[in-house]
Amino acid sequence: MKTITLALTGASGMPYGMRLLECLLKSGQRVHLVYSQAAQIVARQEMDIALPSRPQDAERMLGERLGEFAGKLCVFGRDDWYAPMASGSNPGDAMVICPCTMGTLAKVAAGISDDLIARAADVMIKEKRTLILVPREMPFSVIHLENMLKLAQAGAVIMPPNPGFYYKPRNVEDMVDFVVARILDHLGVDNTLLPRWGEA
Ligand SMILES: Cc1cc2nc3c(=O)[nH]c(=O)nc-3n(C[C@H](O)[C@H](O)[C@H](O)COP(=O)(O)O)c2cc1C
Repeated sequence: MKTITLALTGASGMPYGMRLLECLLKSGQRVHLVYSQAAQIVARQEMDIALPSRPQDAERMLGERLGEFAGKLCVFGRDDWYAPMASGSNPGDAMVICPCTMGTLAKVAAGISDDLIARAADVMIKEKRTLILVPREMPFSVIHLENMLKLAQAGAVIMPPNPGFYYKPRNVEDMVDFVVARILDHLGVDNTLLPRWGEA
């Protein structure tokens, strides 16, 4: 079992983040979840999900939604400096920011650790642990691209949510699973969301 920090920020693409959360819990991983205020707005807009502001309420709500797996879920407030991932002494195995806004991407690239999401990402970089960002914007500006390059050079994995069409997706869920499967692969979490290329 791995301990994965999952951060949801206010970029479009909340279905990727929620599906990733579900798959991580279903596969038996422990998930430390934190989300930004903008993520709460986007979750409501895109999925009609009201992410509560209080972590205890969020754990209860997600437990009702995700069922028996929720025992492995801990939700932290974005200013909770006592959360494990705020410190290099307890960073967990990996962190994913999905979806990732250009704002949070810029903060992480600049080392501005003014909330738990940016701080946890800063910790992952300095501790040389796996940090995956799933940045969403269109088009990317030179500033966005430079920030991504900087983060990639610092060891982060940049995984923009670009589903491939060669598997002939039948619906939005298939396209979401394409992206989530690749993230799970990079986390080293077994999954069968996608058939493996070259296998029957
Ligand atoms: C419905 C909605 C969709 C958004 N989509 C994006 C997006 O795809 N990419 C992005 O960088 N910002 C997007 N934003 C703007 C961010 O939410 C905003 O910049 C916010 O300050 C980011 O804060 P955060 O990084 O703390 O989540 C969107 C906002 C809303 C309300």
